[in-house]
Amino acid sequence: MCSEPGKSPELQFFVIALLLPVACGDLNSDKQALQAFAAAVPHGSKLEWDNTTNICTSWVGVTCTSDGTRVLTVRLPAVGLTGPIPSNTLGELDALRVLSLRSNFLNGSLPSDLLSLPSLRSLFLQHNNFSGNIPDFLPRRLHILDLSYNSFTGDIPTTIQFLTRLTGLFLQNNSLSGPIPNVTFPKLKHFNISFNHLNGSIPLSFKALPSSSFLGNPFLCGIPLKSCLHPPPSSKWKWKLPSWALIAVAAGGGVTVLTLFVILLFCCIKDGATDTTRIERGKSSTASGGQKPSEEFGTSVLEGDNNKLVFFQGSSYNFDLEDLLRASAEVLGKGSFGTAYKAVLEESATVVVKRLKEVLAVKKDFEQEMEIIERVGHHQNVAPLRAYYYSKDEKLLVYDYFSGGSLMSLLHGNSGSGRVPLDWETRIKIGLGTARGLAHIHSFGGPKFTHGNLKSSNVLINHDMDGVISDMGLVPLMNFPPAPPSSLAVGYRAPEVLETRKHSHKSDVYSFGILLLEILTGKQPIQSPGRGEMVDLPRWVQSVVREEWTAEVFDIQLMRFHNIEEEMMQMLQIALACIVRTPDSRPTIHEVVKMLEQIQLYNFENRPPSD
Ligand SMILES: *[C@@H]1O[C@H](CO)[C@@H](O)[C@H](O)[C@H]1NC(C)=O
Ligand SMILES: *[C@@H]1O[C@H](CO)[C@@H](O)[C@H](O)[C@H]1NC(C)=O
Ligand SMILES: *[C@@H]1O[C@H](CO)[C@@H](O)[C@H](O)[C@H]1NC(C)=O
Ligand SMILES: *[C@@H]1O[C@H](CO)[C@@H](O)[C@H](O)[C@H]1NC(C)=O
Ligand SMILES: *[C@@H]1O[C@H](CO)[C@@H](O)[C@H](O)[C@H]1NC(C)=O
Ligand SMILES: *[C@@H]1O[C@H](CO)[C@@H](O)[C@H](O)[C@H]1NC(C)=O
Ligand SMILES: *[C@@H]1O[C@H](CO)[C@@H](O)[C@H](O)[C@H]1NC(C)=O
Repeated sequence: MCSEPGKSPELQFFVIALLLPVACGDLNSDKQALQAFAAAVPHGSKLEWDNTTNICTSWVGVTCTSDGTRVLTVRLPAVGLTGPIPSNTLGELDALRVLSLRSNFLNGSLPSDLLSLPSLRSLFLQHNNFSGNIPDFLPRRLHILDLSYNSFTGDIPTTIQFLTRLTGLFLQNNSLSGPIPNVTFPKLKHFNISFNHLNGSIPLSFKALPSSSFLGNPFLCGIPLKSCLHPPPSSKWKWKLPSWALIAVAAGGGVTVLTLFVILLFCCIKDGATDTTRIERGKSSTASGGQKPSEEFGTSVLEGDNNKLVFFQGSSYNFDLEDLLRASAEVLGKGSFGTAYKAVLEESATVVVKRLKEVLAVKKDFEQEMEIIERVGHHQNVAPLRAYYYSKDEKLLVYDYFSGGSLMSLLHGNSGSGRVPLDWETRIKIGLGTARGLAHIHSFGGPKFTHGNLKSSNVLINHDMDGVISDMGLVPLMNFPPAPPSSLAVGYRAPEVLETRKHSHKSDVYSFGILLLEILTGKQPIQSPGRGEMVDLPRWVQSVVREEWTAEVFDIQLMRFHNIEEEMMQMLQIALACIVRTPDSRPTIHEVVKMLEQIQLYNFENRPPSD
């Protein structure tokens, strides 16, 4: 019998008929292939394959099919393998699904037999020194191809288009040149071709990827990088400001000219053109009856009040304060800074309105902080501030609405039937996304700018099941009363914040550490009274870890997933590093991002997608 394990006999026959001649093997031939590899490739002492033991159970880095008839995976990361991979060694393992030889000293070109292995799903060769071209023929069923951090040269072959199942393609830090082939990978989730010498325009099929997938290729252009066309001379595009606007701008002082102009433009349009539609909208909203009116966040907004809803540039929303006040509103949650409402506008736009309480800041300071928050909000893991409203008695913030809810609702939401427990991969992804968002906030907000209120209810979930941070930067505006000790938010605050009320990047890192513990344990930092025990999460976790029944800390929901203990332990270590008492001893969020990326990579490699 020779073919892929796990296929039905008819299918096997069909496959054989199609692909003849197919190399056939058994466990014995697999063993010989591995021995030939170990004999030909110098390596460190970690790799000692004993001839006399069972290769499926005793050989380092080797696993077999469940019936023990073929070698299924070979993982030999960082074992000091040196030199080229000879033909007729690993290329003979024709049932192999996963091959990882990352972080060795392998070089030369890839042997062609390795690249025609019919069953190979995941190939990890990053951090070696392979050279030559990326071969035209690659295993058709590959899900993940990682050739990053090598010395590959030449074009990316167009035949890569046949790898229709690719979910991850990593080619960064090589010396590839020429254009990116115009191909579409329907399942692609991870893609990186940074730091090569590629040129030409990025095909449209890649436009949704982040620009960080294309870094360090100065001659690449097109979305998401700079446009391929030369921008028109700027003089042609100057806006003509009406004289009253110029006066306003001159008077505006600290506010940036552009924003003010946008605001003015917005006001003009709103004041002029839309009277009739307003009346119609008014009618229909009174007619719609049963819905809760929105006075809840509008009671103090006076008619004739000079203050306007201030939109930021780039916002595609088209409504005004009146529309907002008329929208049907639903309370999403009450937090330490105020209450959040979901407001459904009649243009079918849905937004979140935060009504802040206890704002101490005067208008000018408030506006300045809004500018910073807006500026820092341009990252896929940070929820952008769309608009704000300031009057003496009322302060409103407008954000996008995320129908996926928050990390808090995912972790602790109604646990009735029908709720799918959050799986491990998604938890890693949300943790990493949140860390990346926070890293962006720290980089772009400057050393003094903090999130200040990171907690699971402020991590929203986007359509991609990634974490998006909301509600940053509000601390300096608030007249901060010491929160009552039972309040949930307290559980996230660093000890020094509780003592001195001083926030820093490191106190955000502390809150993030608590968030990771929450992801790992499925427990809220302090459970509200009446809903079971109170948990001082850090203290509880530390006591459990000290007693060495560490496995007990993890969310019982995670026990259904196999082989993740090591990753969970790694994440636990990161969380514990974030919540040490001395702020200076905590890692920076950038370091945390790097560590979490390692876990994700490891996870990726350990769980070849099954199909
Ligand atoms: C391992 O077994 C092969 C035959 O299967 C033999 O040729 C080789 O010498 C053996 N190597 C060692 C180190 O015993
Ligand atoms: C591979 O590396 C070895 C030294 O580790 C070197 O002697 C050899 O020339 C290299 N081969 C290629 C093809 O780069
Ligand atoms: C990797 O190989 C290239 C040539 O193929 C060589 O120039 C370079 O020095 C090698 N790098 C290392 C770290 O061995
Ligand atoms: C990848 O390439 C970039 C640019 O040359 C360099 O800054 C970075 O250190 C490289 N990464 C590694 C791990 O070699
Ligand atoms: C890309 O670079 C190659 C040479 O390396 C050149 O022949 C080709 O014209 C370039 N293409 C574009 C679109 O710049
Ligand atoms: C890529 O191919 C699509 C059709 O498959 C075509 O519409 C598009 O224009 C091509 N883009 C480039 C940059 O060639
Ligand atoms: C791609 O790799 C480079 C390192 O060479 C890294 O800086 C960048 O963040 C990576 N991009 C993505 C999307 O992972």
